[in-house]
Amino acid sequence: MCGIVGYVGQRQASPLVLEGLKRLEYRGYDSAGLASVDDVRLSVEKAAGKIAVLEARLNGRLPRGSVAVAHTRWATHGVPSDANAHPHTDCGGTIALVHNGIIENAGPLRQALERRGHKFRSDTDTEVLAHLIEQHYSASLELAVAAALQQVEGTYGIAVLSTKEPALLVAARKGSPLLIGIGEGEHFVASDAAALLQHTRSVVYLDDGEIAVLSPDGYRVTDLHTEPVEKVISVVDWDLATVERGGYEHFMLKEIMEQPESVRTTLRGRLLEDAGGARLGGLNLSDDELLAVDRVVLTACGTSWHAALIGEYMLEELARIPVEVEYASEFRYRNPILDHRTLVVAISQSGETADTLAAVREAKQRGARALGIVNVVGSTIAREVDGGVYIHAGPEIGVASTKAFSCQVAALSLLTLRLGRLRALSVLQGRDIVRALARLPDQIAETLARAPDVERVAQAFAHVHNALYLGRGYNFPVALEGALKLKEISYIHAEGYPAAEMKHGPIALIDDNMPVVFVAPHDAVYQKILSNVQEVKARRGRVVAVVTEGDREIAELSDHIVTIPQTIDLLTPVLSVIPLQLLAYYIAVQRGCDVDKPRNLAKSVTVE
Ligand code: AGP
Repeated sequence: MCGIVGYVGQRQASPLVLEGLKRLEYRGYDSAGLASVDDVRLSVEKAAGKIAVLEARLNGRLPRGSVAVAHTRWATHGVPSDANAHPHTDCGGTIALVHNGIIENAGPLRQALERRGHKFRSDTDTEVLAHLIEQHYSASLELAVAAALQQVEGTYGIAVLSTKEPALLVAARKGSPLLIGIGEGEHFVASDAAALLQHTRSVVYLDDGEIAVLSPDGYRVTDLHTEPVEKVISVVDWDLATVERGGYEHFMLKEIMEQPESVRTTLRGRLLEDAGGARLGGLNLSDDELLAVDRVVLTACGTSWHAALIGEYMLEELARIPVEVEYASEFRYRNPILDHRTLVVAISQSGETADTLAAVREAKQRGARALGIVNVVGSTIAREVDGGVYIHAGPEIGVASTKAFSCQVAALSLLTLRLGRLRALSVLQGRDIVRALARLPDQIAETLARAPDVERVAQAFAHVHNALYLGRGYNFPVALEGALKLKEISYIHAEGYPAAEMKHGPIALIDDNMPVVFVAPHDAVYQKILSNVQEVKARRGRVVAVVTEGDREIAELSDHIVTIPQTIDLLTPVLSVIPLQLLAYYIAVQRGCDVDKPRNLAKSVTVE
């Protein structure tokens, strides 16, 4: 989720692209940079850290020139550093490029380019593109970019400039948003309209497979074979704040709606259908080392701890390895029994949660191997563990975690495949899981399409004071997560419980004022939870049920239902959590709560 801004026109370019970058700061990033061409001289300035660090580096001396590109980086390949920051340049220092996306075949391309004498200065996939364009360049930057992109697998939104053609910018898009801003005697390119609004509201949205060539007096769009493409000019009529949220009212809703793409990105390049397994290059553990593990401890806080519970069920059921789940805040002080055969896995969206970081340090202190399942590349936990899995969910701005949870569960299913196929999981079982994972992003989209059903349910419950969330098996942690979502953004007291535990006390709470949310997809424990629904209805409880489409028994008993597609049991949480995220969101909105910044909460709890 990097930010891109480019300019070509009559004005000095650097101040314009730098100002545009600041409009993209909300997206989250870990480094920034810009490049400009003045006559035939290429200037590049970039730095790890916030834009303020880049500005300090520039110290008021902005590079001159009427063409420039700028970038804020959300690291995916290569930790945040000056060298890994964009723009990236070619060997000859004549081409500079900024990129948003992931080049999946960057490895083989880089080796081929190195064999042809190209010298690389970073660990990024993006730099490969700069050298590839240089390799293809003869007299036209546009043709060189088109030829290079025909060799690329993966996703990109790029903006490229060259000292050899200083009056033009080339942009291209495949899978990462990019749009052109149309001005008077000047043109812009950006990953997000927020960067352009102070200059123009006339924009052209590029589509996948398109290339744009911008000059001060005009622009044209072609496909990768330079065939012209007709484009419609749109007018952005949103205010800046709305644009920053992608048109959604809140970041939380934007991030809920991003889950098909974020889970797709978590899985990208990691599913091995034939082998029925998963490719997790970042574990830094050999098969033998993984086989030597005799116990796994999953440690986390909050929503990430709920994901850990699902991981426990997956790993024990399918990898047949003993697993414990520990609140990091408890684990770090309770003198746990660990040794070199214990694998401690820390789950953290931010990678900065103090208790989880302390748990990692305690685990390593006692000789255990430590892995991280983390979203923020280069975060403290990601740097201190021995290896791990980045979930690539993109920046999560809303304090209430949503897309990170679904991506954490997806990453845990990949870890289960990796460990399971070394142990008890057959290739056929593995293939079934891989195929179900491949279908998941589309099924998430189907579930999100039912948001209006959830909004109607929310209207019936916006004024309750308490709620009970019940689930079994893989969906017991989802009940906990649904209750946490409601608590933290609507301030309604909600408890999550294993459904069978209700008769050991909480059933005393049931009356016609107590909404009970059942997470009850068609899985191995369906008949069991059906009887729990009957118990609640017998006490006049009001039942909201998340059920599998086509369900009849629980649906007929319930006051409200929201349906999800059928999938395998271990993946039901990724679908069943969505109605609960939306339910909390719509209730909070109706109660006038600050959805993105709930009272008393921080996005990352970096203190004990
Ligand atoms: C979840 O919605 C909360 N924001 C909170 O519980 C969060 O999950 C917890 O603080 C852990 O954060 P982490 O994943 O960044 O470590």
